[in-house]
Amino acid sequence: MQLDLDFIRSQFPIFQTELGQKIGFFDNAGGSFPAIQVVNRLTDFYKNYKIQPYGPNALGTKAGEAMDLGYHTMAKLLNVSINEMTIGASATQNLNTLAIACNSIVVKGSEVIVTEQDHEANIGGWERLCRQQNAILKIWKVQTNTGELVLENLEKLLTPQTKILCITHSSNIIGTINPINKIADLIRPMGIRLVVDGVSFAPHEFPNLDELKCDAYVFSTYKTYGTHQGIMVVRPDFLEELEPQCHFFNESILHKRLDTAGPNHASIAALAGIGDYFEAAYNHHFPNKELPLHEKTRKISCLMNAHENKICSYLLKNIQNLPLKFFGKKTMEGREANISIKADNVSSKSIMKGLAADNIVSKQGHFYAYRLMQAMKVTNLNDGILRLSFSHYNSMEEVERCVDGLKKLII
Ligand SMILES: Cc1ncc(COP(=O)(O)O)c(C=O)c1O
Repeated sequence: MQLDLDFIRSQFPIFQTELGQKIGFFDNAGGSFPAIQVVNRLTDFYKNYKIQPYGPNALGTKAGEAMDLGYHTMAKLLNVSINEMTIGASATQNLNTLAIACNSIVVKGSEVIVTEQDHEANIGGWERLCRQQNAILKIWKVQTNTGELVLENLEKLLTPQTKILCITHSSNIIGTINPINKIADLIRPMGIRLVVDGVSFAPHEFPNLDELKCDAYVFSTYKTYGTHQGIMVVRPDFLEELEPQCHFFNESILHKRLDTAGPNHASIAALAGIGDYFEAAYNHHFPNKELPLHEKTRKISCLMNAHENKICSYLLKNIQNLPLKFFGKKTMEGREANISIKADNVSSKSIMKGLAADNIVSKQGHFYAYRLMQAMKVTNLNDGILRLSFSHYNSMEEVERCVDGLKKLII
């Protein structure tokens, strides 16, 4: 079965606009377009009951119900209890809060391992925690020629003092999907907690937390067709060890424990639209309507991923012979569709501008994976690499235009 792209694109308001029809958008890793279901729920909230939720009046009740639906839908999508889930402002904020909350686990002499491949969001907070606690931050380094993490190198870093390992599910630069469960099998018998940054992975395959053996998993909904929120799932036995970061009188409400902000009511309510979107896409493609939401989501997500991989393979095949350095695996095997390149003779900025003139959106820079860039010897971090990040709503025609543009510009 193939993804019905006409149906998929009909679910995104952007493709109904003149500009949206002209533009081939390949900066999805910076934030995806929102689905119509999300936009509808957000505008419904703002138009009809945007007041403090849960007040004992007709408007407050409606606002509260809408927000509850946002929480519950996200929990259903992930097949987790609402008690395990924090909805914060962003992944950066959630990871930072999580690090602060680990201050009784990470004490003087403890060790925390972060990777050189990660976005700074999953490094900086841990570095600050270690500094404050007189603990030791260890860096799992990448192979400089490939940017890949090698499991044997992790084994050398592990000691009885290691308390937490933080790693990205897939790299926002080289696209490699890391073997989370293999890592878990190695470290969890030693009592080491595993914190996974799924921000780059989740837009390509909605995370299946039933299969992932991690203690905490984080991603952002503005990259998964929703509003600008960060979702963090922390398993109950880990949550219990953490110092609550909420108001003292909210500590018994588990989904508030690690929420350091007042919730964005309308934005959380609109998250229910992500569930509506996956459900509509599933129902359009599959006959069995009886499945729970997380199973529907996994099935349709696989179909979306297959489409993305097919169109991204075309790009991979057709740019290999251009004069450029290519970062990451050269086929779609073991990676997701974030493609990073650096031309030998043309700056990333001018390629980005050249593509934009042909209505192809790409992005250049270091993408906050600063340490990975340094490790891979990208010298001018201001110019950085050029990244083309795909979503399932991209079409083959857009990819062909992108390839034509690259061939014209990279000489
Ligand atoms: C891999 C990765 N982790 C974390 C983040 C930060 O996410 P947020 O913008 O929700 O803080 C990003 C953002 O691009 C990312 O790509």
